Amino acid sequence: MSSARQLFRRKPIAELLVEGESPYALKRALGAGDLIMLGIGAVIGAGIFGAIGTAAAGQYDAAGHLVRSGAGPALVLSFLLLGVCCALAGLCYAELAAMIPQAGSAYAYSYATLGELVAWVIGWDLILEYAVGNVAVAISWADYFTSLLRSFDVHLPVWLTTGYRTALLAPDAAVHGLLQTAPHVAGIPILVNVPAFLIVAAITWLLLLGVRESATVNNVMVTIKLLVLGLFIVAGLTHLNAANYHPFAPNGFRGVHQGAAIVFFAYIGFDAISTAAEETKNPQRSLPIGILGGLAICTVIYMIVGAVLTGMVPYTELGVADPLAKALNSAGFTTVGWIVALGAIVSMSAVLLVFQYGQPRIFFAMGRDGLLPPWAAKVHARTRVPYITTLITGVFVGLWSLIGDAGETYNLTNIGTLFAFVLVCVGVLVLRHTDRDRHRPFRVPFVWLVALTGAALCLLVMLGLPLETWVRFAVWLVIGLMLYLFYGYRHSRLHRAAMHLP
Ligand code: ALA
Repeated sequence: MSSARQLFRRKPIAELLVEGESPYALKRALGAGDLIMLGIGAVIGAGIFGAIGTAAAGQYDAAGHLVRSGAGPALVLSFLLLGVCCALAGLCYAELAAMIPQAGSAYAYSYATLGELVAWVIGWDLILEYAVGNVAVAISWADYFTSLLRSFDVHLPVWLTTGYRTALLAPDAAVHGLLQTAPHVAGIPILVNVPAFLIVAAITWLLLLGVRESATVNNVMVTIKLLVLGLFIVAGLTHLNAANYHPFAPNGFRGVHQGAAIVFFAYIGFDAISTAAEETKNPQRSLPIGILGGLAICTVIYMIVGAVLTGMVPYTELGVADPLAKALNSAGFTTVGWIVALGAIVSMSAVLLVFQYGQPRIFFAMGRDGLLPPWAAKVHARTRVPYITTLITGVFVGLWSLIGDAGETYNLTNIGTLFAFVLVCVGVLVLRHTDRDRHRPFRVPFVWLVALTGAALCLLVMLGLPLETWVRFAVWLVIGLMLYLFYGYRHSRLHRAAMHLP
C-alpha cells in the first residue's frame, strides 16, 4: 500500500463490531432510559446557567469593547437554529452509532468511513469537546460554588478560587489586580482555582468505581436539574414584562448568529452518549432513542428558559456569570434564586460526570487501535473501567481548571465539537455510498438533505466564532497531525497488520 493510501486505510466495520463483544469488552449495563438521562446529564449545565446571559447581552473584551453581538430576546431563535442544527447532526450520529455501537463515538465512525487520518484528527479534536469543555464547566461550577458559600458568609481567599488566566484576562479591575495582590512565590503570583480542581478529582474517583454506580448518581442529578429549571420557569412566568421583548432582535441576524455560536456550548453533550455504546444493552434500538430523545427534551426546555429569561429582565442586564439567579433575584425571588444556584451546581456536576466518562473511552478506543500506546486500552479486571485513561483525563482537566479561564475554553470547545459534527454528517453519506448493503438498524430519512444541511448549519455556526478561535483550532490540529505522523501512523494496528508486524 502506498504511504498516501495508508493515510486513508479504513477499519472494517465487522472488526469494530467484534471488538464490542470480546472478553476484554466493557460491561453492558445501560438501557435507553439511562442513555436519555446520560444525554440530559451532559447537555444541561454551564451553557444554560451561564453562557445564555452572554449570548443574549453580547460579549466584551478586557477593555470593554464589544467583541460579539448579543441576540437579545431573539435568543429563542438562536436556540431554534441550534436545535435544528443538532437534530440533523444527531440523526447522523444515531445512524452511525446504531450501526457501529463502539466506545469511540465519532472517532470510531470516521475510522470506518473516512479512514485513519481523519479518524485520528477527529479523536484529537474530540479532546477539545470532552476534556477542554470540562475545564470550562469545572471553572463555572467553582464560580457558583464560591458564590453560594458567600451567601452563607463563608469567604474563601480569592487567590485560592481564581485561576491565573482568569485574572490575566479579566476586564474587572479588582480581579485583574490579583496579579499584584496575590501571594507570590519566586516572583510568580499564586492564583489557583482549588474548588474547580477538587470537583474534578471527586468526579474522577466516582468514575473509577464503575459505570453502574456512576449512571445511578447521574439519574439523581438529572432529576434535580429538571426540577430546578421547572421552578425557574414557573417563578419567571409570574414576572414577565412585555416591554422587555422590544426590540425583539436588536442586532438582527448577526446577533442571532453570534449568540448561537456562544450558546452552542449549551447543546454539547447529546452526542456524548454514543461513547457508551459498548456499555449499552441493545444499542441498535437504544442509541437513536437516547440521542434524539435527550436532544428534543433539552431544546424545548432551552427555548422556554430563553423566552422566560429575556421577558423577566432587559437583555442588556444579562451579561453576568449567573443570569438565571440574577433574574430571579431582581424579581424578588431570593429564595428561588438560591435554590436555582444550587441546581446549577448539581447540573454542572452531572455534565462533568458524563464528559469525564466519555473522554477516557475515546482514548481507550484509540489505544485499542494502536493510535495511542497500549496502556490507553487497559481495562480494570474487576470494575471493567478504562482506569488509566480515566486517571489521565482527571489529571489533565484538573490541572488546567486550576489555572485556566472558562470563557477562553468555551470557544475552543465549540469549534472542536462543530467540526466533529460536520465530519459525522459527511461520514454518513460516504458510508451510504461505500457500504450500501450493510444492515442499518436506524436510517437517516432523506439522508442527502439531512446530512448536507446538517453539515452546512454546523459550518454556519462555526463562522460565528472569532478569528482567534479559528487560529487556536488550527494550531491544535497541526500538533495532532505531528503526533500522528510520529507515533500513530507507525503503530496503528492496521498498519502493523498490513506490514505483517506482530
Ligand atoms: N452542554 C454542556 C453544558 O452546558 C457542556 O455545560
